[in-house]
Amino acid sequence: MRKPLVMGNWKLNGTKDSTKELATAFAAAANKVKGKVEVAVCAPAILIGTVEANAQGSALLWGSEDCDVHTKGAYTGENSPAMIKEFGSTFAIVGHSERRGYHHESSETVAAKFKAAQEGGLIPVLCIGESEAEFDAGTTMAVCEAELKAVIDLVGIKAFESAVIAYEPIWAIGTGKTATPEIAQGVHQAIRAYLAKFDAEVAASVRILYGGSCNAKTAPELFAQPDIDGGLIGGASLKVPDFTAIIEAALQRA
Ligand code: 13P
Repeated sequence: MRKPLVMGNWKLNGTKDSTKELATAFAAAANKVKGKVEVAVCAPAILIGTVEANAQGSALLWGSEDCDVHTKGAYTGENSPAMIKEFGSTFAIVGHSERRGYHHESSETVAAKFKAAQEGGLIPVLCIGESEAEFDAGTTMAVCEAELKAVIDLVGIKAFESAVIAYEPIWAIGTGKTATPEIAQGVHQAIRAYLAKFDAEVAASVRILYGGSCNAKTAPELFAQPDIDGGLIGGASLKVPDFTAIIEAALQRA
């Protein structure tokens, strides 16, 4: 059975104080659903230690929003998976569309980060998804399949036994334009069908999260879909009542 997972992505937001407040509240919320729903937050690297300090010993899991492909050396500004792991992290988001777009990360680079994260003992959360133009052109699955294929080519399908996929249509991120449950379910099902061509068991067991204006209002119907195993939440993960409501919405799958 796939355990539902609700994960926050704080992006470029937060202070030591706000992190303390959110991590404390989310730790309590995670404890309430312990064993039924997994709850996690991915924070800016500089704040991960503050999350750890305030959530240690609770059911809340945490991680990074990115990681480098290298383990150490002359790579100014980067954070290695081992550094992220040292602060108690479980997850590392890789391939978020904001990194693919603004930081020109290719699918090959994202695949290398996926591999590096796993080798460093982290669970990669691989983000995939199409732009509005690609959605309009009907190429959603071609985009998602190419982004998945780059990872499968590098590490093999079995690597998804210890990974999470997040389908995040770019046109839905931060726009308030949530994909309808029907659209999202259709893509999630197609992603699973694509993975099943390589390995049916892996396809059936991997968790696929939905991200893109997923909020307290839209989460219940999204999480009611058979192939949507939870959410990757941006804006709403910065507000305690909203994120807590989204966690509660995931309980219906438990
Ligand atoms: P929003 O929930 O703010 O649309 O962001 C989604 C996202 O990009 C999560 O990674």
